[in-house]
Amino acid sequence: MLYIGVDLGTSAVKLVLMESGGSIRKIVSKEYPLYFPHPGWSEQNPEDWWKAVCEGIKELISGQKREQIAGISFGGQMHGLVALDEEDRVIRPAILWNDGRTDEETRYLNETVGKEKLSRYTANIAFAGFTAPKILWMKKHEGENFDKIRRIMLPKDYIAYRLTGVHCTDYSDASGMLLLDVEHREWSREMMEICGIRREQLPDLYESYEKVGEVKKELCEELGLPDHVTVAAGAGDNAAAAVGTGTVGDGQCNISLGTSGTIFISSRDFRVDQHNALHAFAHADGHYHLMGCMLSAASCNKWWMDDIIGTKEYGAEQAGIKNLGENHVYFLPYLMGERSPHNDPKARGTFTGLSMDTTRTDMTQAVLEGVAFAMRDSFEVAKALGIRIERTKICGGGAKSPLWREIIANVLGISVEIPACEEGPGYGGAILAAVACGEYASVEEATGSLIRVVDTVEPDPELCAKYEKRYATFRSIYPALKEIFRTME
Ligand code: XUL
Repeated sequence: MLYIGVDLGTSAVKLVLMESGGSIRKIVSKEYPLYFPHPGWSEQNPEDWWKAVCEGIKELISGQKREQIAGISFGGQMHGLVALDEEDRVIRPAILWNDGRTDEETRYLNETVGKEKLSRYTANIAFAGFTAPKILWMKKHEGENFDKIRRIMLPKDYIAYRLTGVHCTDYSDASGMLLLDVEHREWSREMMEICGIRREQLPDLYESYEKVGEVKKELCEELGLPDHVTVAAGAGDNAAAAVGTGTVGDGQCNISLGTSGTIFISSRDFRVDQHNALHAFAHADGHYHLMGCMLSAASCNKWWMDDIIGTKEYGAEQAGIKNLGENHVYFLPYLMGERSPHNDPKARGTFTGLSMDTTRTDMTQAVLEGVAFAMRDSFEVAKALGIRIERTKICGGGAKSPLWREIIANVLGISVEIPACEEGPGYGGAILAAVACGEYASVEEATGSLIRVVDTVEPDPELCAKYEKRYATFRSIYPALKEIFRTME
């Protein structure tokens, strides 16, 4: 049989066609626009996602034996607010995970409602990108739109809704709304009250590997699908990527270097970081995870390469980097503010330490290192919780760079394993679909038989020592600039 995994990302949707045995038969990618209507705001049009998914499915399955296609599932960009009215029309553009407009609402939640209560209700505190502060923002700034809301959903759930007509979400993605009681896997009555919303506006909850419905008959014809294609709930992109790299069960780690950068630690049992610097979310394998999330990771390098120095030759640009650990330039990667661990939408990117002899190569290196150092910040929080991480999987566009993988391994001082399939969320989505169709008894059984590591980057103690010193300097830059960032508009 064949399974479709849909990775609904921020710059594009990527669809993978997976065979029962785990081989990828085809990959299709479709881009869509991302809008920044105001500095620090970030929006997309759900109709653009839908069109891209439809075109993508058609292209993906053209030339295939259509009766073999058994299931579809997703890894979706998390936290985005999609609101529909009585007629199922999208009320306004989706407000995305990296949108920083809700500083005031986030403070209200953390300071007036209080972190202790939020953590008790949801296992998490408020971060600007989470869904609940966006609902409060809409209530305050777009009252008319707020009053029209009939259904609230997350990005991938909008696609599932269009495909099946079922208003659903899964526990991993729902965790990032700040509306779910993560430990007990149910919507929080208190949070609904705080946000002024009703249960019937929220989707029904499913495990990521559960079937929520089938693709509507009329769509099957239009898209070239057979009748009775199972749609599984899917997962937030990080949980899906963790499935796609085999990061399931207890104490496994995955790093994703995509538009965002995340460090994801799977856990069989529910646990909370007492300072809530890491998110405590449900996992797509039916258990839990802790996660640190940077808002800009591979996107920093993309910005630097495409927009600033104007080249598409990423490899050639990195080939000039010869002295790892010896750069005098530092880069703060907070181009969209920062989530973990600073929780500061006002933070901004900087280059520090420039001198007359600084080269473009030093700055390119600083960008790659700055992202790794910021990742280390979340890694340190996990270590402080007593979590021992000696190795990690890696995925995402940035992970295709051998140099960046080496930097990550040495800045964190851990082994970095490269899985055979690099399509984290899309592959994870396809695996979830296969589980929903009964191809495997559980997510763990599926990943156990499908995921293979093909290469490992080991940290070098000498380079680790160099990076240790530089990390200490990196760490001191943000606190020195924090108040200055608050005065910038
Ligand atoms: C995770 C997060 C990002 C998005 C990116 O909390 O906000 O990783 O899911 O798609």
